[in-house]
Amino acid sequence: MSEQQIRRAVCPGSYDPVTLGHVDVLVRAARLYDEVVVAVLHNPAKQGTFTVEQRIGFIERSLPDEIRGRVRVEAFAGRLLVDVCRDVGAEAIVKGLRSAADFAYELPMALMNRHLTGVETVFLPGAQEFEHVSSSLVKEVARFGGDVSGLVPDEVRDAIVALRPNP
Ligand code: PNS
Repeated sequence: MSEQQIRRAVCPGSYDPVTLGHVDVLVRAARLYDEVVVAVLHNPAKQGTFTVEQRIGFIERSLPDEIRGRVRVEAFAGRLLVDVCRDVGAEAIVKGLRSAADFAYELPMALMNRHLTGVETVFLPGAQEFEHVSSSLVKEVARFGGDVSGLVPDEVRDAIVALRPNP
């Protein structure tokens, strides 16, 4: 397949850390597109917990074999998402939506990105079993002793638990 024929999408996010809800969206994006670039970006509204290198490693090791060869994970510090899409040759941004609140948060970004370069955003409905799962909620639950197994990859659960302050 020539470079021009390859249909590529970007799945952007903070991924701080990756959840099984994210992984579900990555798998489904990779079924729709030939290649997926998972773009670990900075969200100015969020303070980071894990380093960018840790986040990338967590994502890479959570990818099922089925899609691993067609998905690459990269950090793009200090970049606009639309510039990342242009540089990697992506025709679309793919994002998961868990709720109407997600839609309200995502819609202005999708419209702004389309305004800037014309890049389209494709929304995938999140899997019902992960509707309540976000990186921030998982970190909060784990911080106060709750069990987050089954919501994030096991390695991520262990890393979050290790952040717990000693009693
Ligand atoms: O997982 P998040 O934190 O909801 O993802 C938000 C993210 C990182 C995709 C968004 O903040 C972003 O695109 N940041 C890159 C800078 C940018 O392009 N900002 C303008 C968005 S319209």
